[in-house]
Amino acid sequence: MKRYNIALIPGDGIGPEQMRAAVKVIRAVEKATGLKFNLKEVEAGDRCKTKTGTPLPDETIDVIKRSHTCLKAPVGETAAEVIVRLRQMLDLYANVRPAKAYPGIPCARPDIDFVIARENTEGVYKGIELRLSNDATVCLRVITRRASERIAKFAFEMAKSRGGKKRVTAVHKANVMRVTCGLFAKVCRKVAKSYPDVRFDEMYVDAAAMRLIREPEKFDVIVTTNLFGDILSDEAAQLVGGLGVSPSANVGDDLALFEPVHGSAPDIAGKGIANPCSLILASKMMFEWLGRRHNDPRCDKAAGMVERAMIETLNKGIRTPDLGGKSKTMEVGEAIAKVIIGG
Ligand code: NAI
Ligand code: MG
Repeated sequence: MKRYNIALIPGDGIGPEQMRAAVKVIRAVEKATGLKFNLKEVEAGDRCKTKTGTPLPDETIDVIKRSHTCLKAPVGETAAEVIVRLRQMLDLYANVRPAKAYPGIPCARPDIDFVIARENTEGVYKGIELRLSNDATVCLRVITRRASERIAKFAFEMAKSRGGKKRVTAVHKANVMRVTCGLFAKVCRKVAKSYPDVRFDEMYVDAAAMRLIREPEKFDVIVTTNLFGDILSDEAAQLVGGLGVSPSANVGDDLALFEPVHGSAPDIAGKGIANPCSLILASKMMFEWLGRRHNDPRCDKAAGMVERAMIETLNKGIRTPDLGGKSKTMEVGEAIAKVIIGG
């Protein structure tokens, strides 16, 4: 029987605590579905840099490349050297960040269900910054037709297959960044023409930030450039229960890496109170992707199980303090695992 190789990056801060809870859930999925996973832990991040001198060792990169997929907990100050580098190196060009209201979990409106498709390989994240003098600095923003086109296509395909409102909103600031955002907007308009069944509109990023608060239920798929997507996805997370329940996927043509939207949360690290649900929902997205990629319905089943078990657990009141509860990280992970095995 096929076994899936999954590289695990426990990362920094709350990362290892979240990963222990997520592994409980993955093991429960094995028991409930008959799926088999080879889990291989690899190092990356701040602690890894202190220990080995580099935040992203070659060994880690090799293991990820040889695996079917990768589940990553947050890293700390070395995020740019780890995740931004992995996204560019492995060409994981689409960053998918869903914002979905779950019953019983605090949210701005119960009917929120949209996804941000963030371009993941260029923009200001290319890291091309120059110091012209002590008093003047420059950051270069790279926007190409190729990267804009593939994220736009990705967004339209997602709008088509999601079965939602079939709407794509391109978010940019082409009135100010006429050249870079101008190209991005132009490419989105062109791609839109190939998808007559999907409604297309455009919004300036400042207006989009406001509209996300005023009418979040109207959005379906937002397609945007790297930095805007980063900022809007934290805002989107807060509309639906916060960063503790916000997962993301970094998707390329052959490989995908799944992680929470948030960082290593140093303010609560080591206390055992971090919400593991962001990483557990990231594993749910990972199962969905494995199911599609390997045409394996057991993985789709696993994704559904994880989501339902999480909702059931949170609604029993087993939740961490960020969701108003008193439970510990591991208690939430164990409770979700128990529901999966039981059901
Ligand atoms: P953060 O996302 O780590 O935390 C923001 C706030 O949300 C904090 O108050 C934190 O306690 C809370 N929070 C986040 N996740 C939570 C969870 N699962 N449960 C409960 N509360 C949670 O953002 P911050 O503090 O700006 O960044 C901390 C570090 O994370 C930085 O070193 C940054 O470089 C790194 N980072 C790494 C990322 C990655 O690995 N992809 C992404 C973003 C930041
Ligand atoms: Mg971010």
